[in-house]
Amino acid sequence: MKKFSCILLSLFLVVSIFAVVASAENITYEQWQEYYTTCDNTKIMLTPGADETQMNFCWHSVRDKDNSKPVIKLSKNKDMSDCAEFKGYSTFSDLPEQRVNNVTVTSLEENTTYYYTYGTEQVQSEAETFRTNSFDSFKFLYISDAQPSYKDDLTERAFKWNRTLESAFNSNDDISFIVNAGDVTNYGKPTEEWTAFLSPEYLRSYPMAATQGNHDKKGTTYKYYFNNPNVYLGFAPTVYGNGYYFTYGDVLFVMINSMKINIFDNYKLIKKAVEENPDTKWRVAVMHYDVYGTGHHAIQDDVIAAKRSIVPVLESYDFDIALTGHDHIYGRSYFMEDDKVVETEGYDSGSVTDPEGIIYFTQTASSGNTRAETYDFEWLGKTVLSENDCYSTIEITDEGQLKLVSVDSITGEAIDTFTITKTDFTFEEKKMENGYIGEMLEPLMGEYFVIYKVIYQIFTFSWLFNF
Ligand SMILES: [Fe+2]
Ligand SMILES: [Fe+2]
Repeated sequence: MKKFSCILLSLFLVVSIFAVVASAENITYEQWQEYYTTCDNTKIMLTPGADETQMNFCWHSVRDKDNSKPVIKLSKNKDMSDCAEFKGYSTFSDLPEQRVNNVTVTSLEENTTYYYTYGTEQVQSEAETFRTNSFDSFKFLYISDAQPSYKDDLTERAFKWNRTLESAFNSNDDISFIVNAGDVTNYGKPTEEWTAFLSPEYLRSYPMAATQGNHDKKGTTYKYYFNNPNVYLGFAPTVYGNGYYFTYGDVLFVMINSMKINIFDNYKLIKKAVEENPDTKWRVAVMHYDVYGTGHHAIQDDVIAAKRSIVPVLESYDFDIALTGHDHIYGRSYFMEDDKVVETEGYDSGSVTDPEGIIYFTQTASSGNTRAETYDFEWLGKTVLSENDCYSTIEITDEGQLKLVSVDSITGEAIDTFTITKTDFTFEEKKMENGYIGEMLEPLMGEYFVIYKVIYQIFTFSWLFNF
């Protein structure tokens, strides 16, 4: 009887929170406190699939004698009639009493509302829902550094994390997915941090592509919660997660693990992603380290190392923008090339056409853990000092524009807008003249770089053709 009452209460609370979301009212802290008692780490997480017609699902469940494969049932009807079944696979969890379930759903159509249940063949959850929008022109949400810590009051931290999403979704009913620039949790291990992270109900309906942050690196659990597409393990896979990529419409997203010590893996990841998707119109890199960032992290050794090993590859493949986090201070760089600022007409007014170089955005934090410090880096075109969380929407239009709007999630005011218009969609790829290693060694070796060049020329036998 007690268990039945608990289930009824849980259902009531979930229905209540949906009612609040549907009516676009903000949930109060008292409502949240009640709802949060129903949360645990078994809530399902959606991630983008390999392209816009796919969706990936991941959830923890109790490990019991039922070893049947995990199943997602998908229907266009609320009563789940005419549903399709998609089977996946289970893996071990970090928790001995749980298993991790991964399923991919395919053949999604645009502008369609779907209902889904998850579980096994025998036992399925209550129906949840998500909606696809247009695949040609679409909007995604860019946030970072939610990183709930088990040392904080997690109910409150989760409330603030939910508040950022609430602010974004109340003002934008046309978001297709979320991009998270990392530091998903604070210690990368405690289960209660995942309970806090997974608690917003928005995550049942909006897929999230998250890259790993240095805080996720403290543990090993990131990989148990995200069913990412096209994961590239490389020569040295990390225990906390690896880079991956996906396309959505005309955009290639490359999600880079910027803490990775084996730099060749990131080089190969980016190369593979681009070579398999040469015809997209936009190339977007997402990584945690703010290599042209806004705060003191941007000049720390590990971030500079990431800059030296990743930026030459992004420039070589002519990426358009990079979305980063880490410093918990919002800002954007000038367009950068060869570590120099590229003068760009329209930059100051926030609207440029066919720019040269790459612009790097740094997102602030999203659960009340922002920093407001001033730094005067030569690459920094704009920074916004605020103690409030912030989110950005990025819209890709079918008229060749990328429109970013960044919003204070407490006041709802726009703090930055930036539009890139493209009239030419060919990528000017540059071969790295002295190879990938040479790109990194040149600034370090100075005049002695000639020694490397000679060795490189001999090694590649290109000297045979230069005489
Ligand atoms: Fe962070
Ligand atoms: Fe970080």
